[in-house]
Amino acid sequence: MRDTLRFWLGDEYIVLHDVPPTMTALDWLREKGGRTGTKEGCNEGDCGACTIIVVRRNTTANDDEDLTWQAVNACIQFLPMLDGAQVYTVEDLRDPSGALHPVQTAMVEQHGSQCGFCTPGFIMSMVVFRKRAETKNGPVTDTDIDDALAGNLCRCTGYAPIIRAMRHALAAGPDRFDAETAKISERLATMETGEGVVIATDAGRLTIPASADELAATMQTDPAARIVAGATDVGLWVTKFGRILPHVVFIGQIPELRRIEATAQGVTIGAAVTWSEAEAPLCAIQPEMRDTFRRVAARPVRNSATLCGNIANGSPIGDGPPLLIAAGAELILRRGVQRRRIPLEAFFINYGVQDRTPDEFVEAVFMPVPEEGVLFRGYKISKRFDQDISAVMAGFSLTLRDGHIHTACLAFGGMAAIPKRAATAEAALVGRPWNEAALAAARDAVSQDFTPLSDLRASSWYRQEVARNLLTRFYAETAGQTPVRVSVRTHRAETAHV
Ligand SMILES: Cc1cc2nc3c(=O)[nH]c(=O)nc-3n(C[C@H](O)[C@H](O)[C@H](O)COP(=O)(O)OP(=O)(O)OC[C@H]3O[C@@H](n4cnc5c(N)ncnc54)[C@H](O)[C@@H]3O)c2cc1C
Ligand code: FES
Ligand code: FES
Repeated sequence: MRDTLRFWLGDEYIVLHDVPPTMTALDWLREKGGRTGTKEGCNEGDCGACTIIVVRRNTTANDDEDLTWQAVNACIQFLPMLDGAQVYTVEDLRDPSGALHPVQTAMVEQHGSQCGFCTPGFIMSMVVFRKRAETKNGPVTDTDIDDALAGNLCRCTGYAPIIRAMRHALAAGPDRFDAETAKISERLATMETGEGVVIATDAGRLTIPASADELAATMQTDPAARIVAGATDVGLWVTKFGRILPHVVFIGQIPELRRIEATAQGVTIGAAVTWSEAEAPLCAIQPEMRDTFRRVAARPVRNSATLCGNIANGSPIGDGPPLLIAAGAELILRRGVQRRRIPLEAFFINYGVQDRTPDEFVEAVFMPVPEEGVLFRGYKISKRFDQDISAVMAGFSLTLRDGHIHTACLAFGGMAAIPKRAATAEAALVGRPWNEAALAAARDAVSQDFTPLSDLRASSWYRQEVARNLLTRFYAETAGQTPVRVSVRTHRAETAHV
């Protein structure tokens, strides 16, 4: 076991002792690392002012690239999560001759900055987007750019010049990093020593298990330890609620948990696989999930947040559970050397109560290949298109046999204390043809399934109404009718559906 953290910050090799487990990367960069170009805005992953770049070797085999470049929010990354990474802040972008990075040049030339507070964060997201765009098949669309920049907020310049700068930067020549791929790869490989980390300080203890076996042993020794995967939920407990976590176990880089496995039966997503990484393999077998994936938080959050963390936190308003329940997903839990596999819906028992013992952890989630001809949709209802928690989230699937509904799964988030299926509405559908009478029966029945709360996101009445109307939309889309949609025009005359 090692008792130090180490990572590369630009061209400096950093070795740290006595690291408090929940010190954020942002606090360390600004207070100890001298990297004050990285700004603190919201301190909760919402504004992108703190965006940094984290480079790692590709371990999910999700694409052919050797390195993965990710823009992440430093304010909700805990410092230990940088162990073994190559990290860049805005100070690292100039090339050795002192010339600005092509993205910086484009931002200057296109007037992409006024007060400048958001600018370093934007630039970091743009640098990563440029790298990823190099490997994209086909032209970069406006939607691609919107998606890449959705996690960065600017309150004075306006987005048009920034998007213009992004377009110019995409057309510019190589940057300093293009010539440094081999060097970065070698640095990362040298740090991969396969050893775990334990650091005990007065502020708490941190463990970075080297393997799933070590994680299992750690949780059996200290079941009160807090598992942290992407920290996009836990980070806020610390930055917003001042919670003290005496022992934090970081699982984000455990090789077995980083695994994505696709077989003829389905896709298994390990507990350390992020939303960004899970998108392609899951949407490959269920393309109807794509819209929801794009609308979970924004890119920098999705680059850290794990799908399994979204499940494990047990939130009634997480976007993953309704979608995955409707897809027939199963959860794989591990305790010591024992594993068990349960239907995902069975994991959620009551508000804040899940079917997991304290020494047990989520190892993976499995999503089966959908039955041929299944009717499937995911619908997210929130006030903003990007970066907003759902008021209601729905995952629907129907199978038909001989023109009649054979199975129905209508899973909702935001309607109850847990992600939950609408059992009465499902029963009202099974055995009927998928027609207007069936829709009417399901609409009536779904009102009996839930007594939702009123809160800051939506009233109880609104949630009930939306649940019914989503069934209508599902019917309109899947029974072959033209969906009724309200369209809004964006400044670039694209159409967004709400
Ligand atoms: C700005 C912002 C926007 C967001 N938007 C959305 C959104 O649109 N939709 C949405 O659903 N969520 C959203 N979230 C919430 C969050 O990003 C997700 O819930 C995310 O998937 C959590 O994953 P994580 O890896 O970061 O979990 P963590 O924060 O690391 O952990 C969350 C919880 O799960 C536990 N846990 C994690 N992994 C395991 C495991 N393997 N075994 C046992 N327990 C485990 C942790 O102990 C903790 O209790 C948002 C968050 C932020 C900050
Ligand atoms: S400071 Fe706003 S996202 Fe980090
Ligand atoms: S330039 Fe001022 S917030 Fe963007």
